[in-house]
Amino acid sequence: MENYQFPKGFLWGGATAANQMEGGYKEGNKGLNIADVLPGGKERYNILLNPGFDFEIHPEKYSYPNHEAIDFYHRYKEDIALFAEMGFKAFRMSIAWTRIFPNGDELEANEEGLAFYDRVFDELHKYGIEPVVTISHYEMPLHLVKEYGGWRNRQVVTFFERYAKAIFNRYKNKVKYWMTFNEINSGLVMPIQGLGFSIQKEEDKFQPTFQAYHHQFLASAIAVKACHEIIPNSQIGCMILYAPVYAFDSNPENVLYSLQEEQLFNYFCGDVQVRGEYPAFIKRYFKEHQIELEIQDGDLDIIKEGKVDYIGFSYYMSRTEKKVKTDEEASQGNIIGGVKNPFLKASDWGWEIDPVGLRISLNKLYDRYQIPLFIVENGLGAYDKIEEDGSIHDDYRIDYLREHVKAMGEAIEDGVELMGYTTWGCIDMVSMSSGEFSKRYGFIYVDKHDDGSGTLERKKKKSFYWYKDVISTNGEKL
Ligand code: BG6
Repeated sequence: MENYQFPKGFLWGGATAANQMEGGYKEGNKGLNIADVLPGGKERYNILLNPGFDFEIHPEKYSYPNHEAIDFYHRYKEDIALFAEMGFKAFRMSIAWTRIFPNGDELEANEEGLAFYDRVFDELHKYGIEPVVTISHYEMPLHLVKEYGGWRNRQVVTFFERYAKAIFNRYKNKVKYWMTFNEINSGLVMPIQGLGFSIQKEEDKFQPTFQAYHHQFLASAIAVKACHEIIPNSQIGCMILYAPVYAFDSNPENVLYSLQEEQLFNYFCGDVQVRGEYPAFIKRYFKEHQIELEIQDGDLDIIKEGKVDYIGFSYYMSRTEKKVKTDEEASQGNIIGGVKNPFLKASDWGWEIDPVGLRISLNKLYDRYQIPLFIVENGLGAYDKIEEDGSIHDDYRIDYLREHVKAMGEAIEDGVELMGYTTWGCIDMVSMSSGEFSKRYGFIYVDKHDDGSGTLERKKKKSFYWYKDVISTNGEKL
């Protein structure tokens, strides 16, 4: 197809997370959160994927890039003006739980934190930009991790409820679009950020992981219900990390294995949050892994009453699976595993680039759930080079995004209901998985480097002008 028809009111924009952009990690009475104790650089990746993290800051050994990040805390006006110049209709951001409840278990919210987000939302509305807010984006209060054991502990559900209600009440006239937990399924591979604890030994992960999930599902359902009650015209979604799983070949064993991986990783959480009940396949999985959930009377009713309105998801890559794989075949850099796909090229960080996979994902998700979809993350992490005249020609990023926007256009033609598209890291930020500044996603370059140097000056890349045209023509000019 040549001319894609995006719906009227389509939410074009960009996406970020508080911990990766705000900085000001101790300002305004903010408490420490998980991201504040994650070191920068390659070490972070090992910490996220392996057991035994201590949740302590070790200044003698590591740097902590999230502490200053790109200083959005002080520069939000300048940044929002740039988003407005691109014509953003929506801006996805998260609220740092620790700005509102610094330890997580207080009874009263912190006024300075609440006032900060008032200023940010007011600034967005000044330009007609709709905020899309993630309530928890890998930013659990550290105190809840250390003193309560993260989401393993049922008490955390009450703390989250208090936090969610505080922000719904405060921002009920300013925020219409919400999401509960960022990439909720990622806790299956990265429990530190997703579930707020580090497993000690690989074999001990099953029971605590799924008990923590049960608590998150309760918290999510309670928040959904409260959101609908407090803000009647709101829409609140789940947010999943979606990477369609392909079988490496037509060997039925590989096809079955891919299906099972897809069910567990891509659909388990969505099934609970969208359909309001545990799916059939997970019951067998629980049995086979000796998992016995503690479910109290009424829990399943709460989950049933808290179904989300839409599915927010991130899409960066697909995943190709084989039941038995050698280390050599394994896909490099793909956090969620799999083998190399011979048909795909990968980014500098080994993430396989697959725009057709986005069309497949949109169709699969819509076929399964039949509720609106919202792509709330997609983008290319790449090294950018500044030319002598100060310009940045990021044609590789434009190519990547163009192909993904085309895939969205095709999926809409296929009949998929798509609400919007917020590209990840519309402004350069700290990378989540590698803690680097050099893994850049933005339309806006930020002068900040892995060694901590940089003026924090903002510059428009070539993609800035490209995206501006895409938005102003509602996807006609790609
Ligand atoms: C998603 C996260 O997994 O991917 C973001 O929600 C993250 O927080 C993004 O930044 C890109 O990942 P990374 O590791 O390249 O920053």
